[in-house]
Amino acid sequence: SGAGRPRLTFLGTGYLGATYAICFAEMGYEVLGFDVDEPKIAKLASGEVPFHEPGLDELLRKNLAGGRLRFTTSYDEVAEFGDVHFICVGTPQRADGLAADLSYVEAAVTGLAPKLTRKALIVGKSTVPVGTAEWVEEIIARHAPEQAQVEVAWSPEFLQEGFAVEDVLRPNRVIFGVKSEWAYGMLYGSHKGVFDLAMTEDREVPVVVTDFATAELVKVAANAFLATKISFINAMAEVCEAAGADVTQLARAIGYDPRIGNRFLRAGLGFGGACLPKDIRAFQARAQELGVGEALRFLHEVDLINQRRRQRVVQLAAELLDRPNGPAGPDLSGLRIAVLGATFKPNSDDVRDSPALSVVRKLSRAGASVAVYDPEGMSNAERELPEVGFAKTLTDAVARADLVCVLTEWEEFRNADPATLAELVNGKRVIDGRNCLDQGLWVRAGWDYRGM
Ligand code: UGA
Repeated sequence: SGAGRPRLTFLGTGYLGATYAICFAEMGYEVLGFDVDEPKIAKLASGEVPFHEPGLDELLRKNLAGGRLRFTTSYDEVAEFGDVHFICVGTPQRADGLAADLSYVEAAVTGLAPKLTRKALIVGKSTVPVGTAEWVEEIIARHAPEQAQVEVAWSPEFLQEGFAVEDVLRPNRVIFGVKSEWAYGMLYGSHKGVFDLAMTEDREVPVVVTDFATAELVKVAANAFLATKISFINAMAEVCEAAGADVTQLARAIGYDPRIGNRFLRAGLGFGGACLPKDIRAFQARAQELGVGEALRFLHEVDLINQRRRQRVVQLAAELLDRPNGPAGPDLSGLRIAVLGATFKPNSDDVRDSPALSVVRKLSRAGASVAVYDPEGMSNAERELPEVGFAKTLTDAVARADLVCVLTEWEEFRNADPATLAELVNGKRVIDGRNCLDQGLWVRAGWDYRGM
């Protein structure tokens, strides 16, 4: 194997690593996926993706069968196999503050480095505070055998859950943060499958070659921008509501300006998930350390706007149910609320930092009896909130409810017939937390409708 077709390993087979390992095998690379989590590796090796991602199961089974894809829990095997090692482990928010927890990155690098015996490239993909690549280089210098001549590169990823396969096979750009021609060549070789596919489809994938710090910052800057765009439109939603205007029309109208663009401009319950919320916090923490905290102070506001959306649903619930909104929040005891949606967005089973579950918690705390239904996220949600009631179907959730809250814009909810649901409920009140329902249809079916 040379720079033409390097053998690839992916350390950390969570969302990012598993998707990359599978998709790069699909592009014809010899791939080894690694994780310290044995049950997870066993699952993947037996052809089962441990999370919900459209199209990924099929690709996993196909490439396992094709012999291009294997999984292991052994660092020795990873070191022996790979020319390019991608670090794909998680960087969650630390328990003690806003900063990112780098312990998994450190564990992966210190686990692998001493085992390396020949020239290899270690590529960071995880979302990290700027400066991490240099730190990884130091760890390697300390732990890798001298003759191994290990180099480091940084190449962040931009995949979105629900579109992950497409985002890996057809990225809208790739970033190569490198220090040497050799590292560039190896990264190029390990992305050749991506470039070849683009060529056959008459597309181009822009490559941005940068230093380490820029590559690291590209990722957090992109997520900070996306989060800001969402909070911007949600701030407009607050103003629209006070002024009696319609934020959906407003978003459509400003979005026609290509400088603004109409995507990521859906007002509603705001952003959640494992990336945007923690990334904007870690970014602020890092800016603070760098002495430029002021530059990112607006991200604190972005976070606050986002959190207010969740509280707003509870206020709306109180208004609709005629319960006074006291300083300690409303008292919703004795009321039955159906919550449709638990995942942080549709077409995913992920409930990490889910705005929907955050609202469920608030409603329960206010005394309401809550019945949650989600098409894919039930088992994850039940693990997260064991004390809450879950319904097996949409109709079970809605039965006898005093209020229905749609908190994730699943197609099943958008397509539900409000006239049929009206017959099941105790009170025809609905909060459209994602502005995803056909308001006219619901109103005609007799519902008291509130959007965000
Ligand atoms: C996000 C980024 O979009 C990816 O580019 C990035 O690679 C990824 O984080 C990551 O850092 O790994 P993801 O977390 O999968 O991807 O979810 P998004 O599709 O970005 O949605 C995030 C949240 O924003 C969801 O809760 C969604 O409901 C909300 N959202 C999105 C809105 O409220 N309004 C919008 O207009 C768009």
